[in-house]
Amino acid sequence: MYGITGYSNGYHQNQQQHSSEEKRGGGRRRRGGRRSRHPPGFRVSDHHHHHYNNDDDDDKQEQKAPPPCTDFDMAYFHSYAHVGIHEEMIKDRVRTDTYRAAIMEHQSFIEGKVVMDVGCGTGILSIFCAQAGAKRVYAVDASDIALQANEVVKANNLAEKIIVLHGRVEDVEIDEEVDVIISEWMGYMLLYESMLGSVITARDRWLKHGGLILPSNATLYMAPITHPDRYNDSIEFWRNVYGIDMSAMLQLAKQCAFEEPCVETITGENVLTWPHVVKHVDCYTIQHDELESVSTRYKFQSMMRAPLHGFAFWFDVEFNGPTNSPTNNHIPSLLTGASNNNHIDGIQKKKRANPNEALVLSTAPEDPPTHWQQTLIYFYDPIEVEQDQIIEGSLTLSQSKENRRFMNIHLEYSSGGRSYVKESVMR
Ligand SMILES: C[S@@+](CC[C@H](N)C(=O)[O-])C[C@H]1O[C@@H](n2cnc3c(N)ncnc32)[C@H](O)[C@@H]1O
Repeated sequence: MYGITGYSNGYHQNQQQHSSEEKRGGGRRRRGGRRSRHPPGFRVSDHHHHHYNNDDDDDKQEQKAPPPCTDFDMAYFHSYAHVGIHEEMIKDRVRTDTYRAAIMEHQSFIEGKVVMDVGCGTGILSIFCAQAGAKRVYAVDASDIALQANEVVKANNLAEKIIVLHGRVEDVEIDEEVDVIISEWMGYMLLYESMLGSVITARDRWLKHGGLILPSNATLYMAPITHPDRYNDSIEFWRNVYGIDMSAMLQLAKQCAFEEPCVETITGENVLTWPHVVKHVDCYTIQHDELESVSTRYKFQSMMRAPLHGFAFWFDVEFNGPTNSPTNNHIPSLLTGASNNNHIDGIQKKKRANPNEALVLSTAPEDPPTHWQQTLIYFYDPIEVEQDQIIEGSLTLSQSKENRRFMNIHLEYSSGGRSYVKESVMR
């Protein structure tokens, strides 16, 4: 885990799994911050600009001006220039193997086609697509990691097929439409980082009608959790330190440990109920304005008696073809209100009982761990809940006005007749 450039981060990770540098950090990010050496849309290999040509598509001609590339964005891209972040992602075998499997599963669609890799990083997904028989791959990245990607492409004799473009997907220009968009855009709590907006931009600029988007859809879940070990380790610990009563430290310890979301690994045993679907994203249809703010109401019934310490969040993504998009199977949680606390969406499908079901990359507590782990929002004080006790409330996730890559979290919860509000920022 790495901190977004130049900003204090403030959330905490599973300390057993991360280096000391990582413990300071924020998202999948590193510190830094300087301007790119190249103008937007620079083709790394031959220094040519490619021109966007969409004469045959009126909708696509009406593109709005791209959002400005802010200093926050520059810092964000700079954070991706470090090798460590790519090493961590590539070594996450659950992530990388699932992407490769998804590409191979759609090989018959990809063969002979034009692909765009939105945020290519080191170029690994572009190379998988070339190996799957893509005719041409546009590998786009605004980070200086694009320079490395270009070297990797050349070293693998793929320069004829993979065109590395060093620039924002919002700014680069290519002179054809694409059949496939692939991207690994998911941040913590799915939406942190706000990279999905760039996939939408690429889709609206270049994807052919009937084209393929990988992943095709994503679902963010939440569930109440109990985690006595974590609470005791960070908070109760202060009650007796080498025989000294340090309870005076309790308030500060709670503030420091739980003010902001924590990225940690929990297990299925920590989870008190079936999860609630916070947001379903269909990558074929989602629009920018849906991402500015996501709200849901939830209602859980605890399956056991336990101290309730907070909520866990995780996501999964599926790799469906364009005709198999499950849009119609999903009703946005906003519309269903508190009632969609069920395990129909996503939960059953991800077990993939037969190969006709979508391939799923899951970051759920009961599934093999990934570098995303789970995101936890802890309460300052636990709530003792009985079996069948109701835990209900609402959640709003919104892009920070200050920096749209940060996420404001407004959580309301009540149980046992008492109500609480917790505001936090993921930065
Ligand atoms: C999570 S990494 C994935 C890297 C690579 N695809 C992989 O799977 O290993 C996301 C990459 O997208 C790039 N990126 C994010 N937003 C972008 C944008 N709007 N335009 C171009 N690149 C972007 C980042 O610089 C980063 O290298």
